Amino acid sequence: MTIRLPATLIAGDGIGPEIVDATLAALDALQAPFDWDHQAAGLAGVQAAGDPLPPATLDSIRRTRLALKGPLETPSGGGYRSSNVRLREAFQLYANLRPALNIVPGGRFDNIDLVVVRENLEGLYIGHEHYVQIDDDPHAVAMATGINTRAGGRRLLEFAFEHAVATGRRKVSIVHKANIMKALTGIFLETGLELYERKYKGKFELDTVIIDACAMKLVLNPWQFDMLVTTNLFGDILSDLVAGLVGGLGMAPGANIGADAAIFEAVHGSAPDIAGKGIANPTALLLAAAMMLDHVRLTEMATRLRQALHATLNIDLVRTGDLGGSASTSAFTQALVRRIRNG
Ligand code: NAI
Repeated sequence: MTIRLPATLIAGDGIGPEIVDATLAALDALQAPFDWDHQAAGLAGVQAAGDPLPPATLDSIRRTRLALKGPLETPSGGGYRSSNVRLREAFQLYANLRPALNIVPGGRFDNIDLVVVRENLEGLYIGHEHYVQIDDDPHAVAMATGINTRAGGRRLLEFAFEHAVATGRRKVSIVHKANIMKALTGIFLETGLELYERKYKGKFELDTVIIDACAMKLVLNPWQFDMLVTTNLFGDILSDLVAGLVGGLGMAPGANIGADAAIFEAVHGSAPDIAGKGIANPTALLLAAAMMLDHVRLTEMATRLRQALHATLNIDLVRTGDLGGSASTSAFTQALVRRIRNG
């Protein structure tokens, strides 16, 4: 008897329902044992329940502790607060894991296999900022406060180091700016060095790199890195940079992992410019689903999904428009399902 796994499914906004349908078709073909609890969030949450993060959605994740999520629309400027940020806070999803791996060869860089681990809750993203008025200029001065705690840094660094050991990473680089932001990012560096000496020395190589130099080195020679671990703002920027190294947002999955739950998603947003046209590339969400399978220890299924994606893209050469192909989302999905069924 196969054990069934309850999991929350949030289709999301824009292209969300299209790429979620594609992902469900692939997971069905794999006979993945998820029992989905369908819930709404983002704009769909506002339309269905008058709330971008309805209590029923939070209750569902509290129960399942596992979710697959399409992108959620957040209005810029005014409007409601990002449901993604609220989800991270509600479930203490402190670790953001973003692997970058070439699937389609022939881009700017080949053989990239990097992972960025980003602290997801602290730093300059806590939203403590304000303007100071001088004379008649209400925006004369802008101020922001960042908060990094030793406990918050340690749990993220411990997660990253454990992940490095479990996945056989040879090198971990702590990315910081402790030469300038001596306290704010110095505490993260100091905590990482101390943790490595105490618990992980000899299990992998550790180095430290300043964020600006890291950005340059990633573009000149990305192969010198293996895993990057860093604070919230630097991690946000670097994870998009490494997504760019492997062909852009359509290929980039992400996992938000915490003590109370894990939520898997594509790195990209709701792509309103192509929503409803049936042309979105579902690969990023499919790769997120593979991470979710790994997370629940269904590694063989995860491998089959990744292999089928590779075959569809590179042997069958079925690709969506963003990858230079002409396949619709549904044609791509049909080819992928065929590969999953027939190998
Ligand atoms: P976006 O990632 O939605 O789109 C940027 C560009 O990439 C667009 O031209 C889009 O067509 C293209 N693109 C993105 N995903 C694609 C895919 N799977 N296949 C083919 N092309 C794809 O970023 P944008 O436009 O800045 O944001 C739109 C909305 O998404 C905003 O409301 C934003 O807040 C939200 N968003 C949500 C995220 C999440 O839920 N995790 C993450 C990022 C943005």
